[in-house]
Amino acid sequence: MSGLQRTVEVAGERPYSIRISAGLLADGSALCSPVRGDQVLVVSDDAVAPLYADALEAALRGARPGLAVARLVLPAGEASKTLAGFARAIDALATMGARRDACVFALGGGVVGDLAGFAAACWMRGIDCVQLPTTLLAMVDSSVGGKTAVDLPQGKNLVGAFHPPVAVFADTATLRTLPPRELRAGLAEVVKYGAIGDAPFLDWLEAHAGRLLGGDDAALREAIARSCQHKAAIVARDPFEHGERALLNFGHTFAHAIETAQGYGGLNHGEAVAVGMVLAARLSERLGLAPIADGDRLQALLARFGLPVHLPAGLDPQRLLDLMRLDKKARADGLRFIGWNGAGRARILGDVPEEAVLDVLR
Ligand code: NAD
Ligand code: GLY
Repeated sequence: MSGLQRTVEVAGERPYSIRISAGLLADGSALCSPVRGDQVLVVSDDAVAPLYADALEAALRGARPGLAVARLVLPAGEASKTLAGFARAIDALATMGARRDACVFALGGGVVGDLAGFAAACWMRGIDCVQLPTTLLAMVDSSVGGKTAVDLPQGKNLVGAFHPPVAVFADTATLRTLPPRELRAGLAEVVKYGAIGDAPFLDWLEAHAGRLLGGDDAALREAIARSCQHKAAIVARDPFEHGERALLNFGHTFAHAIETAQGYGGLNHGEAVAVGMVLAARLSERLGLAPIADGDRLQALLARFGLPVHLPAGLDPQRLLDLMRLDKKARADGLRFIGWNGAGRARILGDVPEEAVLDVLR
């Protein structure tokens, strides 16, 4: 396994490693290495837990027989990423009598990772969290960098904290059970890294699209490692999003508005990001900042990955604009978007005229 393992280091005040390989969830001694105490809460969802939680817990207990391991399983899906779901995680920590050296293991996609990470951030003002991402999206994005949150009816991720994990183990074997729609959603975030800062990575993705869609482990490992390298570099320089980290939100202002307008039951996050990136590219064109050809290229690559590239029918542009005003990037002086100057050259767009946004949404 080790020859095929990729490791990405995330620098910062509390550095940590992202390990990427098939079979990591069976490696009890590696998984236990960041655990300081003798209590673990595994948080998962009801699609992932039946597949992987027993084996994970057996690996943990095998490596450290005295470990007390509790489990919380939430219903799968974005609808669980709420204050009520968060309260269940806090209850689980209270029930097990979690001490300051307890550790939360987030086993699942970004929903579980964000919620479990937020519970870890809040319990006793912060206990350790290990991220065990099982979706491609979580492996390339949400498990890395320490953003944790839950949603409110008023908007996505409005309640949360920065709480970096102490370790990330991305077991790529779990991607074999991932529904194809979710694999494609993760590819949207992979494309994002090329779009914002690495045009040659877009060439690579175009060349390897078939292997990635087919679930080829080597191609996926390469895509995950390269994505994590990008995210790790940005997060190390700007952990609290005072500046360039905002570039990671390319397409996200549109995406979050779409997800909220659809009540978190329409496009999934990655699909919404795909549409949002195309809209961000088109907005940049509209503002005279980027060539149309680059937007066309981005749209074609996302479509090749089976992702939506147009706004879903029935969404009211004015309502989407209203939702964007609540986006975390919005400021008193107006709407801010992440746009680009073309492939690989993202930039922050301040004070964007609402009429230009409405034009793009129409
Ligand atoms: P998700 O967690 O809902 O997972 C998608 C679906 O796949 C779920 O039904 C889940 O049960 C299932 N699943 C997960 N792994 C599986 C596996 N290996 N086999 C079979 N089924 C599996 O969605 P997601 O796309 O992973 O994450 C989306 C969330 O991540 C959103 O809430 C988004 O806001 C958040 N996010 C956070 C960050 C961050 O920096 N914290 C970044 C990007 C996205
Ligand atoms: N997904 C955006 C970020 O982590 O900053």
